[in-house]
Amino acid sequence: MPREIITIQAGQCGNAIGSKFWQQLCQEHGISRDGTLEDFATEGGDRKDVFFYQSDDTRYIPRAILVDLEPRVINSIQTGPYKNIYNPENFFVGEDGMGAGNNWAAGYAAGERVQEEIFDMIDREADGSDSLEGFMLLHSIAGGTGSGLGSYLLERMNDRFPKKIIQTYSVFPDTAIGDVVVNPYNSLLTMRRLTQNADSVVVLDNGALSRIASERLHVQEPSFQQTNQLVSTVMSASTTTLRYPGYMHNDLVGIIASLIPTPRCHFLMTAYTPFTGDNVDAAKTVRKTTVLEVMRRLLQPKNQMVSITPPKSSCYISILNIIQGEADPTDVHKSLLRIRERRMANFIPWGPASIQVALTKKSPYLQNTHRVSGLMLANHTSVATLFKRIVVQYEKMRKRNAYLEQYKKEAPFAEGLGEFDEAKEVVMDLIGEYEAAEKDNYLDPDAGQT
Ligand code: GTP
Repeated sequence: MPREIITIQAGQCGNAIGSKFWQQLCQEHGISRDGTLEDFATEGGDRKDVFFYQSDDTRYIPRAILVDLEPRVINSIQTGPYKNIYNPENFFVGEDGMGAGNNWAAGYAAGERVQEEIFDMIDREADGSDSLEGFMLLHSIAGGTGSGLGSYLLERMNDRFPKKIIQTYSVFPDTAIGDVVVNPYNSLLTMRRLTQNADSVVVLDNGALSRIASERLHVQEPSFQQTNQLVSTVMSASTTTLRYPGYMHNDLVGIIASLIPTPRCHFLMTAYTPFTGDNVDAAKTVRKTTVLEVMRRLLQPKNQMVSITPPKSSCYISILNIIQGEADPTDVHKSLLRIRERRMANFIPWGPASIQVALTKKSPYLQNTHRVSGLMLANHTSVATLFKRIVVQYEKMRKRNAYLEQYKKEAPFAEGLGEFDEAKEVVMDLIGEYEAAEKDNYLDPDAGQT
């Protein structure tokens, strides 16, 4: 029985990364640009029905809902090479086409206005599933639509589908470029919903993505096109155990249970190696991709997709390495021993200090330059540094009362700026939770009450 997942992509960023994700899945499963199976796609053993369903004429259609308040990105998807794979009834574009103007509150208020139409789509997709496992929301937390409308959807989905898993792939802004001035406001407000209304959040940090794209792919000033290629690689790798199931980690709940021992600490960082731009000659370096090399590189901060320097006290709560390709289980065992001997990963004092490993297939339909590749999904307490940065930036702006007028005009702020204060409190509590998780008495019910 498939454990279906419905993907909701919201805003410019959400739709841009979503369209790359679907392209990647189609290529991996041998699905052509019009949804039919390619003649060469005869291998079997994959589970296409987690992310696709079959129409009456047997074409594969993504379980995807595409939402934006302005039409540009959705138009480009509807006229692009994969335009025929989507269900035409699953596009939602705001009537006035004006977007949310990088204002979380405008996105949230729009969410309230248009929710019926969007939930009609979500309910239709949910009713069409045999055993729906949950939802994936793809969005950025810094703009207006993906963050604000995304927040609204997260709250309502939580009420409407309380037993289903909600996972998000959330793009955090590159604070060095600050392309959205008010990103600290939008990020803080969205963080509250990611904390309270999601079961698991995969943190994708634009700062780190740009750094990795320029270092690994030898590209100066990488475009979104290039960083989104990294994102889709990570998204496809993190869903391989669902699409090529083995004994373990073959549903979302299994992955989440193994990574998230306490429900609030549910923000996951990723690392991937080797990243090679097959279009970039300089990046096609000859590397030795043994299992040990892959697992060692996954622990190096330069391969991790979060732009923070981990504080000394920080540590891993859990790690799941998804190793794709020709990996021998005895190599995995030896590599784990070596990593432990050399103390390459520092774990929390109150749980099992071990790296979990899932071995999975690579798509037989894609040419692979590397024998083995790996994705790390890690729950690490240093993620709180990223949240602290958002709070610090938020406070700086709030102190100056900067740009508040445009927020006050919108419904969530009709009665004052309490939304901000509540969001800050939730994020501060979350930071405190990660700090507490570094201590050995974290699970002690009396800890923290003195
Ligand atoms: P409005 O434009 O206000 O309607 O909201 P939106 O959700 O459409 O905004 P958008 O998704 O553009 O969010 C802005 C943030 O997303 C900024 O931090 C951008 O750097 C980032 N962003 C936008 N497009 C992309 C993309 O294709 N890839 C990546 N990685 N980041 C993006």
